[in-house]
Amino acid sequence: MSTEQQILQLKEQLNHHNYRYYVLDDPEVPDAEYDRLFQQLKKIELENPSLITSDSPTQRVGGSPLDGFTQVSHEMPMLSLDNAFDAEDMAEFNRRIIDRLKRPELSEVQYACEPKLDGIAVSLLYEHGVLVRGATRGDGATGEDITLNVRTIPTIPLRLAGEGYPERLEVRGEIYMPKSGFSALNKRAEQRGEKPFVNPRNAAAGSLRQLDPRVTAARPLEMCSYSVGVVEGGRLADKHADILRQLKAWGFKLNPLLDEVSGVEGCLAYYERLTALRDSLPYEIDGVVFKVNDLAFQQALGFVSRAPRWAIAHKFPAQEELTTVKAIEFQVGRTGAVTPVARLNPVFVGGVTVSNATLHNMDEVERLDVRAGDAVIIRRAGDVIPQVVRVVTEKRPENTCKVSAPTTCPICDSAVERLEDEAVARCTGGLYCAAQRKEALKHYASRKAMDIDGLGDKLIEMLVDQDLIHNPAELYALKVEQLTKLERMGPKSAENLVNAIGVSKKTQLPRFLYALGIREVGEATARALALHFCDLEKLMAASEEELIEVSDVGGIVAKHIKGFFAQAHNLEVIEALLAAGVSWDRIEQPSSDELVLSGKTWVLTGKLELMGRSDAKNHLLALGAKVAGSVSAKTDCVVAGPGAGSKLKKAVDLDIPTMDEEQFVAFLNQQGIVVK
Ligand code: IVH
Repeated sequence: MSTEQQILQLKEQLNHHNYRYYVLDDPEVPDAEYDRLFQQLKKIELENPSLITSDSPTQRVGGSPLDGFTQVSHEMPMLSLDNAFDAEDMAEFNRRIIDRLKRPELSEVQYACEPKLDGIAVSLLYEHGVLVRGATRGDGATGEDITLNVRTIPTIPLRLAGEGYPERLEVRGEIYMPKSGFSALNKRAEQRGEKPFVNPRNAAAGSLRQLDPRVTAARPLEMCSYSVGVVEGGRLADKHADILRQLKAWGFKLNPLLDEVSGVEGCLAYYERLTALRDSLPYEIDGVVFKVNDLAFQQALGFVSRAPRWAIAHKFPAQEELTTVKAIEFQVGRTGAVTPVARLNPVFVGGVTVSNATLHNMDEVERLDVRAGDAVIIRRAGDVIPQVVRVVTEKRPENTCKVSAPTTCPICDSAVERLEDEAVARCTGGLYCAAQRKEALKHYASRKAMDIDGLGDKLIEMLVDQDLIHNPAELYALKVEQLTKLERMGPKSAENLVNAIGVSKKTQLPRFLYALGIREVGEATARALALHFCDLEKLMAASEEELIEVSDVGGIVAKHIKGFFAQAHNLEVIEALLAAGVSWDRIEQPSSDELVLSGKTWVLTGKLELMGRSDAKNHLLALGAKVAGSVSAKTDCVVAGPGAGSKLKKAVDLDIPTMDEEQFVAFLNQQGIVVK
């Protein structure tokens, strides 16, 4: 084989493996094999420098830094998108399309749907299959030449794969930084004392605008294609979604969430689906994009000013907004933790109105230097509690004061203590403190603890405020007549509540231990303790050394447990609870090889209607299984209730056994577990 042929073969092999790895996410060979081929090619090229071509995988990072970027005029303008913010805007968009197409019989327009990636738009020009230029969008008419930088991005092919591509082809898409790469980059920046990037989009933009391509090469960037510009010397498919699939065959990464739907209903269902998926995606999206799928229709519709009439971005509600801090107050939690909270002028962010944001602890207050009166940026992503991202110090009014840590509890006036190695300050009032009492009761009654139906937070607050109960044991003595005196509590509701409290007495030891609210004893630890000791007296008598033997329990947790059972008032409450009739079935300690599911990993997804998530999980754990939150090749079985989505799909794709809830109940019955 000639040297030329050898080089050609190596380049083809490397490009193929690159495509499998970065675009299909399905590598064919281990990394070491790729490295070996790469080194081989490098060696031959070094010996034959005249045979090096720009599409060689060894040439992704090359050349020396630029002095500046040159301007590129786009042969076809790079358009932007109109926005829709709700179902009404979407209906309006769809109606305009039907009107303009003058096709009233066309009740259902077909749309291609894609996530709206939050990154930077790029144009990539290929001539005879070779990448000749990469450019930013700029103002849509003129952008900047970033060829050397885009060449370093592994998901961008230097040479198109396969065949049938046009002689000149401009591929457009979004360059973005995945969330994981973004946090790793910021962690490194912080370690080096550098300023972190505000968000993945800024990080992607900053990484692309580097004069030295070696800097770009070290940044975790990806690209997904979403449209084409110039097409000469060849024809593409006549449906948008099919064009994107063609691009995939030629080597581009295509977003796996690409879909095709009919009419507004289809669009809205896609929007809902992506809203639900958003937080679990490995990259940030700020909405979804709908495009009329039929290219002939696109052409007929044309565009107005800078946006096509045939496409729209249905945006998610903004996740960051500006508001002002009315006051900074301190809240007292179940374990006495005194947490600073910013009371805000209400602001609509992440789809809800936010009027409070946690500030976590005094270290955070100091780090942010947040004060009453400050303008702040609030972020609310997914179900995460709203956060203060930063203070806009330029907008700080005069005469603001720094916040100082309280020395006494704002609720009960007891002293507040902060241990040396703890970030949190605590009220020392214990159950004397009404705030701690309320939180302890809320925890006791909560779903994963004693699961008392109908005993919600508001009701507990009223019961404590009116001095009707002081500890969980007193719940069992509540009378219908006492409850009916409370606001909005009729005789029927009061009776139901008394019954529910009665029913909850029959419980399970892990629930009871969790309900006690011992510091650092969450659900899993409570379960481990119950399984290890099997009965309450043994656990109460255990020494710290004995406690540490339990999986999940370390030195600090052992101290908290021992400390809890050493306090007289806790023992009194436990005694009173048992006297009131709280009870559970004895746990027989199973030997580990008796557990049918030991070493197995199960995943629960969708709505479990017969028993609920937490019972299902407890049953699986009792059988020795691990319960994981996501499906992978290591998953042994997936239980999928109604509404299951991506996890179930992944399980089916990976050929992992699945069962519905009825089959699961049957399985539990076989194991001797009776579902209530
Ligand atoms: S299509 C003519 N599709 O959103 C259509 N844009 O607000 C032009 N974007 O500049 C764009 N994901 O940077 C399209 N799937 C997607 C997109 C997308 C993100 C960005 C793009 C564009 C901006 C418009």
